Amino acid sequence: MKVLGIETSCDDTGVAIYDSEAGLLINRFSSQIDIHKIYGGVVPELAARDHIRKVIPLIDAVLKETGLDKSSLDAIAYTAGPGLVGALLVGATVGRSLAMALAIPAIGVHHMEGHLLSPMLENDAPQLPFLSLLVSGGHTMLVDVRSLGNYKILGETRDDAVGEAFDKFASVLDLPYPGGPSIEKCARYGQPGRFRFPRPMSGQATLDFSFSGLKTHAVMEVARHKLDEKTRADFAYAFQDAAIDALVVKLQRALKQTGYSEIIIAGGVGANKLLRERIDGLAKTLGVRAYFPSLELCTDNGAMIAYAGYLRLVSGYEENLDFSVFPRWSLESLPAIDNVIRFESDSIS
Ligand code: KG4
Ligand code: ZN
Repeated sequence: MKVLGIETSCDDTGVAIYDSEAGLLINRFSSQIDIHKIYGGVVPELAARDHIRKVIPLIDAVLKETGLDKSSLDAIAYTAGPGLVGALLVGATVGRSLAMALAIPAIGVHHMEGHLLSPMLENDAPQLPFLSLLVSGGHTMLVDVRSLGNYKILGETRDDAVGEAFDKFASVLDLPYPGGPSIEKCARYGQPGRFRFPRPMSGQATLDFSFSGLKTHAVMEVARHKLDEKTRADFAYAFQDAAIDALVVKLQRALKQTGYSEIIIAGGVGANKLLRERIDGLAKTLGVRAYFPSLELCTDNGAMIAYAGYLRLVSGYEENLDFSVFPRWSLESLPAIDNVIRFESDSIS
């Protein structure tokens, strides 16, 4: 079964083909960084317009590169939410129309379910159940992945997402968008200990996060200093150190609470090297295994949408021809994925 995956929830147009027999055939994306960087963040209308320009050429390109004809596709999965409504509508409309023209099923996928299941696409995949730390520009959550489609949110941010906090603080430091990689790069030259920022909510028993207090504290501290190269790097260091610490403290608590021995990290902030090092250190200390999907599966991508869509389709999940997108959509409201005995490629076709 070959499923075309289309991801257009935010600022990357992603298209991929997942084949239940051969695995992931192709995973391509078109970035909008150049469009949004002058504004220091994603401009929803510009994002939607660029998806319109890119999505069909990208579908054509992945078909050409894999040597497949449209007629060999068995289904189409697209991101139905959560995300920017205009951006979501582009992928949904194109996915639905193409599926109708080809007389194949289409399925709207939950973006975060895609992220949660993306590590399953790696050769060395985790075993369910596991704990997941989802860290992106729009989300920061700890999820108990009990079984396919059965997710319990253990904690989430009460205000800014961690990636959003990186992006906002980077613009205060006059660093380019997206802020996460910029702060990480700049922090390499920072002096440890010159500034120390608070680790919000880390002393509280809850598994929820908060990043707006850290951001406000950091912004006020910047206002008190002249922003030369060295000071900028010292601020980047202090911010990254505090934000990553705040994540790791809660992850440790969630591991203790669930007793799980496997954790997966997903979402764009999962690319951060310090986060990876600290989680690896924690995993060694606690004797658990940490899985980091490769960079192309960590950030927004069509592969995770194709795969999550495939799992739902083979479990008998069907959708009507009418469709909606869901800018806000609870992960816990998803129906369980039943009847999937073991999603090894050769057991289902
Ligand atoms: O998952 P993703 O690609 O898109 C969303 O669904 O949001 O995540 C993008 C976010 C941005 O906020 C970006 O600044 C952050 O991930 N990010 C990073 C790093 N690379 C990307 N944050 C910290 N360190 C990084 N190396
Ligand atoms: Zn995402």
